[in-house]
Amino acid sequence: MKVIVFHSYKGGTGKTTLAINTAINLAKRGYKTLTIDADLNAPTFESIFSELTPTCNFNDLFESQSPPNLEELPVNSGINSNLDLIFADSSPKFGQGLLSMDKNFHAKALKKLADVKLKFAELGYEYLIMDTSPSLNLSSINAIIIADATIVVLRPNRYGIAGTTFLLKEIYSMLGTVKRKDFIIFNQVVPGTPKKIISEWEKHFKQNLDIKTIGIILCNCGIALNMLYGNLIVVDEPANVQFTRIMDDIVNNLLKELSKE
Ligand SMILES: Nc1ncnc2c1ncn2[C@@H]1O[C@H](COP(=O)(O)OP(=O)(O)OP(=O)(O)O)[C@@H](O)[C@H]1O
Ligand SMILES: [Mg+2]
Repeated sequence: MKVIVFHSYKGGTGKTTLAINTAINLAKRGYKTLTIDADLNAPTFESIFSELTPTCNFNDLFESQSPPNLEELPVNSGINSNLDLIFADSSPKFGQGLLSMDKNFHAKALKKLADVKLKFAELGYEYLIMDTSPSLNLSSINAIIIADATIVVLRPNRYGIAGTTFLLKEIYSMLGTVKRKDFIIFNQVVPGTPKKIISEWEKHFKQNLDIKTIGIILCNCGIALNMLYGNLIVVDEPANVQFTRIMDDIVNNLLKELSKE
């Protein structure tokens, strides 16, 4: 099983949209896929998948005195039989448990997370997608440590590039990187942005940090309009064809990169 973590420096760059659409794409290809709402600061699955009512959540694994069995956590998405979901606690307890800054707690949580990864693989999942909280927090850092790939999503503007460069230089490069592959997606790119500028951004991350750009996604009103109705799942409709094609390319690239040793 491969773990793919979606992360960013700034909030609102499109992590949740891209994590869910990547998961749907993988499930449609026949891969048994599990997606975890690991954005513990601001969970979203409850509003996106409002018709589902899971009985336990991701936080319970780490915070509860009597953690649930792993088999009890995933619920089927109802979108595709290959796509299961794990929700986060919808009333986050700031300063406690996974949202504390207690390093001992997080050191134990990291061990547990590594164990959970192995067990989900044993349950037959082929891909585990984790949607995390932006910026620096110990829970997101733990997810990055157990990842086989991270996808760092940014909006291409001056502070997006500077912040992401800082994140990759100061944090990612310090974490165990033996096997992990890090990628960039430029999202919400303003249509009409000169190609030369886009290739300069790509070059910046490749040359300075050796990080490859795996996708460039234009700002697309169809995606924003879906969100207006609380829907991040971009369905195969003619208006969304450009986005679904890009998602196909991104997943093709990702599968190719993850199959390399
Ligand atoms: N390519 C795009 N074009 C237009 N709108 C987009 C695009 N990608 C995402 N959005 C919109 O941007 C908003 C933020 O997206 P999303 O919630 O996926 O970001 P996020 O990184 O998960 O945010 P947070 O950090 O708050 O969790 C949503 O309204 C979404 O519909
Ligand atoms: Mg999000």
